[in-house]
Amino acid sequence: MGQSEPSLELEELGIEVATVESVVDRHGRDPSAVIAILQDLQEEVNYLPEGTLRYVAERLDIPVSKVYSLATFYRAFSLEPRGRHLIHVCLGTACHVRGAVKVLDTLEREMGIAAGETDEQMEFTLETVNCLGACALGPVVVVDGEYHGQMTGAKATRLIKKLRRSEQE
Ligand code: FES
Repeated sequence: MGQSEPSLELEELGIEVATVESVVDRHGRDPSAVIAILQDLQEEVNYLPEGTLRYVAERLDIPVSKVYSLATFYRAFSLEPRGRHLIHVCLGTACHVRGAVKVLDTLEREMGIAAGETDEQMEFTLETVNCLGACALGPVVVVDGEYHGQMTGAKATRLIKKLRRSEQE
């Protein structure tokens, strides 16, 4: 089946067009794989640029509104640029009663940003969640997908210092 070229200008995409094409191809241009395609694309630049959503919709021949609604429905997706390190602090009940707010305060102070924000250097994005399913380990902080349990303010400070050191290496 012949397919017309997407009408978007490449610079509108926010991700290299070759990257988007290779991800879409890897999933066989299958509209039912749209979530997996969005996951793979987000891994490339840590968020989903708006132009990319429109491009994917064109390539899969599905409505842009459908791609948008998936990208906004799942918390794992972000339509805003995020830092190189994504930090989630659990504020669910089990973590809350064990001091999660103090951990969050410490992280906000260390990074100079509030929950929901990304620092200017695009180094960190700090987000809160309501339960990470690891209540027995609470308070829980997840850094780039890695769980850290029994978190304290001092441990949180050490985590951030370690991430900063790894950035400088
Ligand atoms: S409440 Fe924090 S992991 Fe469940």
